[in-house]
Amino acid sequence: MTRYREAFSWTRSIDDFVKWEIRETPLLHVCAGRSAWGDVTLDLHVASADVQGDWQALPFPADAFGAVFADPPWDSGHKSEVAAFVREAMRVAPVAYLMAPWLYCGKVAPITRVWYREFPGVNQPVLLSRYERVKTQLSLMSAGEADSQTGARLNRLDSAGEEF
Ligand SMILES: C[S@@+](CC[C@H](N)C(=O)[O-])C[C@H]1O[C@@H](n2cnc3c(N)ncnc32)[C@H](O)[C@@H]1O
Repeated sequence: MTRYREAFSWTRSIDDFVKWEIRETPLLHVCAGRSAWGDVTLDLHVASADVQGDWQALPFPADAFGAVFADPPWDSGHKSEVAAFVREAMRVAPVAYLMAPWLYCGKVAPITRVWYREFPGVNQPVLLSRYERVKTQLSLMSAGEADSQTGARLNRLDSAGEEF
């Protein structure tokens, strides 16, 4: 028998923490669950989100947001989706945040800050990591050229498995 359970919702203290630290606007909140935080919320399965969509293929134009925040499920299936999310986040905003037990390391989206959750005892790290789009000659190009060059470079990095 199939059972439907409510998606995990974070606690008040986590809510306060992210709202305090993340100040860029407009903010796109992906994998948002039932949270209403952010100027636009997106979730693949939760009907109350502003947009039903996949965090790996964001249905927004380039530079539509000041930052993207993601709180994905933490099972290994979603770990493999992180690179695609970062690529999409860096297309729609210059800054991205990921709340997860994983770090993305790549030239196109250097890590600028990392917070870790402190729990008593021994536990798997849960990180809030912040990424910033690399500022290169892309600013001298048209948006279309910049998008295609960034996409090509990311594809090369991903397909080559090059992490740094
Ligand atoms: C950890 S929960 C987020 C909980 C949220 N912070 C809250 O307080 O309600 C992760 C969410 O990611 C959503 N999700 C799973 N796969 C997704 C995907 N490919 N794209 C977008 N959202 C996805 C799930 O539906 C779930 O609501």
